[in-house]
Amino acid sequence: MNYVDSLKSVFADALKSAEDLSTLDELRLAYMGKKGLVKNLFENLKSTSSEIRGAKAKELNEFKEYVEAELMRAESDLKHRENNLRIQDEWQDISLPSSIQQQGSLHPLTRIERHCIEVLGMMGFKLAEGPEIEDAFHNFDALNISENHPARDMQDTFWLEKELLLRSHTSTIQIRTLQEQKDLPIRIISPGRVYRNESVDATHLAYFHQFEGLWVDEGVKFSHLKGTVDFIIKNTFGDGWDIRYKPKFYPYTEPSVGVDVREKGKNGKWITVLGAGMVHPNVFRMTGHDPKKVSGFAFGLGTSRMVSMAHGVTDMKSLYLGDLRVHQRLARKAYKA
Ligand code: DAH
Repeated sequence: MNYVDSLKSVFADALKSAEDLSTLDELRLAYMGKKGLVKNLFENLKSTSSEIRGAKAKELNEFKEYVEAELMRAESDLKHRENNLRIQDEWQDISLPSSIQQQGSLHPLTRIERHCIEVLGMMGFKLAEGPEIEDAFHNFDALNISENHPARDMQDTFWLEKELLLRSHTSTIQIRTLQEQKDLPIRIISPGRVYRNESVDATHLAYFHQFEGLWVDEGVKFSHLKGTVDFIIKNTFGDGWDIRYKPKFYPYTEPSVGVDVREKGKNGKWITVLGAGMVHPNVFRMTGHDPKKVSGFAFGLGTSRMVSMAHGVTDMKSLYLGDLRVHQRLARKAYKA
């Protein structure tokens, strides 16, 4: 092997082991730098005899060109390789569909409340609201449930300080509306949460949702009550349900009824979805209305129960526990209207 070839072969070995651009730079410096090998070899030429200097210089030039060309080639190869690695690393398939977004939805209770507000709104009912912390007058006395009336025991109440309580029903809104409004007609609906001091177990909680309705005017009859209640039930459950009126007792209505529904043709159990009746004369008297001039009906509808019936939720408690599986399943279902 001649002199140049052996230089080339040493360089070629060093080049092979330069696997990244920074080692390549070191190699370039070692060969082509100011204090590099090539410079050195040219320096050494000065001390060789003049006969061979020309030939040696030619060889050295050939080696220098070789080194320069090889360094350039290796640099471009390495750049290419590093680019490819980066592309592999950062590559993204922009044609892939994006990750699935969870779509939120309203709580089933909110949906049925809004549904009922819409249905009753078509009949001219307006929304009314009231506090969840009440006094005994609005929750009991003005509803003709006097202090020693056994009906107070029917609704086990959470009592707070200073004769206040957590409302046990939305019928309090009837009283507040009748006290405030003397112009006729009075037509209000009021959905909300109510509380009962029940022992909490697998299927019972100490609160649930109700929906109160009140229509007062001159000449309101039981047939108006029936027409309104039938309208709500048909618009919520559809035509495939039987409706049954049965006598019941509420101190604030006379006569009073319970309304049951059952899926047509299934012969299943009747389930009570609301209580209703013609507003008791004492309620009118206690709120400043003349029962000889006005009449009206009221109803209280169990919204939690309606949701569980409309959707076949057997455990009502699951509506309140924020279990997404229950809510997602119900979110897809629509009410009839
Ligand atoms: N307040 C009753 C309850 O919570 C429901 C009810 C019955 C409301 C008759 C009424 C009514 O307005 O007239 O069970």
